[in-house]
Amino acid sequence: MSSSSPVSVLWTPHPKQIEALERSEFEILYGGSRGGGKTAAGIAWIAEESDNPNFRGLVLRRNSEDLKDWTDRASRLYRLLANPGTKTGNPPEFHFQSGAVIRTGHLNDADAYTKYQGHEYHRILIEELTQIALEKQYLRILSSSRSVIAALKPQIFLTTNPGGVGHAWVKERFISPSPPGKTIWDHGRTRVFIQATMDDNPTLMNNDPQYVANIEALKEVDPDTYYAWRFGDWERFSGQVFKEWKVRTHSIPPVVPSKNVQHVLWMDWGYAESSAFACYLSALIPFTTGDGQKYTQIVTYKEWYGNQIRPKEWAKRIYTECKKIGIRPAYGVSDPATHASAQSGDQSISSLFEDEWKSLDGQYWCRFKAGKNSGRNSRIGRVGMMHEWMSINPSSGMPYWVVTQNCVHFIETVPNLIHDEALVEAYDTHQEDHAADACSYGLEKVRFTSVAPGAHTYRAVEKMKPLYNAQNQELAISPKAFSALYPKI
Ligand SMILES: Nc1ncnc2c1ncn2[C@@H]1O[C@H](COP(=O)(O)OP(=O)(O)O)[C@@H](O)[C@H]1O
Ligand SMILES: [Mg+2]
Repeated sequence: MSSSSPVSVLWTPHPKQIEALERSEFEILYGGSRGGGKTAAGIAWIAEESDNPNFRGLVLRRNSEDLKDWTDRASRLYRLLANPGTKTGNPPEFHFQSGAVIRTGHLNDADAYTKYQGHEYHRILIEELTQIALEKQYLRILSSSRSVIAALKPQIFLTTNPGGVGHAWVKERFISPSPPGKTIWDHGRTRVFIQATMDDNPTLMNNDPQYVANIEALKEVDPDTYYAWRFGDWERFSGQVFKEWKVRTHSIPPVVPSKNVQHVLWMDWGYAESSAFACYLSALIPFTTGDGQKYTQIVTYKEWYGNQIRPKEWAKRIYTECKKIGIRPAYGVSDPATHASAQSGDQSISSLFEDEWKSLDGQYWCRFKAGKNSGRNSRIGRVGMMHEWMSINPSSGMPYWVVTQNCVHFIETVPNLIHDEALVEAYDTHQEDHAADACSYGLEKVRFTSVAPGAHTYRAVEKMKPLYNAQNQELAISPKAFSALYPKI
């Protein structure tokens, strides 16, 4: 923060806050853990240009209560400035004597992501960024950040802790590309992540040991929340639904399983820009353990994912690619909505696929079963089923269900899903949950048998052979390579 900032006479930032406030990147993400002085830094940052009569700022928080807390805190500071800012209206606006204005809003508003479009804000502050579910929604807000006034450079200041419905995209955009403090370049624009933990806030550490102690108390009870809040750990975060999902055990190199087992298609329909189509091809492989227990091993090995593509076109792509590897699905499972005809009497989405396949193949190449309804109990049931399939089979040492590494959208989204606060056994449906939805509708149609421990046998290696398609060497991996991945087999 420059010493010319109007706030500097009343408030002295800590060193980490200075670092964040002095950055010149277009987007600055500040924070990582609780109590790092994020909110305080944001309050100072957005008022830096309040002496400029043309300045327009925008502050966004999660809901009206959070916003009230922010405006109360900001008001205590702004009214003491030489050029005081007065809070008026609802949602509150700060009108400075100079003529500068800071508007505020919250994201629970139905039109939160569109109402600022076409406006011009020189600075936008978004608190708790991971509360925004989709990157697209964030980019929409970003588009109102601009300036026709040379002295007012557009800039965005963001704060957050790990966790929240937007955890995955925020991590991808700000955390993964570069170490903290290093500029990330993206099509000529810049952004940076400045990491602050409560250790960077001496006021808190010295004056409120109870706050620190309260968070320390979480260490044993809820370690994921503890590491996220105390140290800003982006790998372990609070609320993750599929904690058991590990890249090293649940994903395997690309394979095409043998034609001699049943293959099935699992689909979740989506067309809109804010939605996605997700479809998976999986092999259901019957196994018998050394002591005669039968179970099904699932390998999900092909993914179709995207949006704004019509059913006919997807159907064609799926058909062509399946033909190429010589696979015909035994059946499909799709989300229940794809079985409903539109009110106008239009064809259902699932039958559009089936008809296109019929015209390509001359017969009904694949028919869809409807996934269970998407009500409350079904959502809980589907998540429960996914947990079962992700569990480790004691006889093989591998999960009952593995996904190949070429299913990139699955791997990017499913492990990052977080709980729905209103329904903790299910995932929050505001996130990118299409991969999870598609697979969960499909998994429900497969009989899950858990294997009793002690049935382990090395002969299982032989039985893994259906996983490898000898004709398709470039996609197959050898049993040796496979058993290296799963040394117990
Ligand atoms: N530079 C500072 N000087 C004095 N107190 C500060 C400073 N920065 C933060 N604080 C105080 O530390 C506490 C935590 O800061 P806050 O901004 O709420 O953290 P966060 O938003 O990261 O959880 C608050 O009581 C706040 O007033
Ligand atoms: Mg805060």
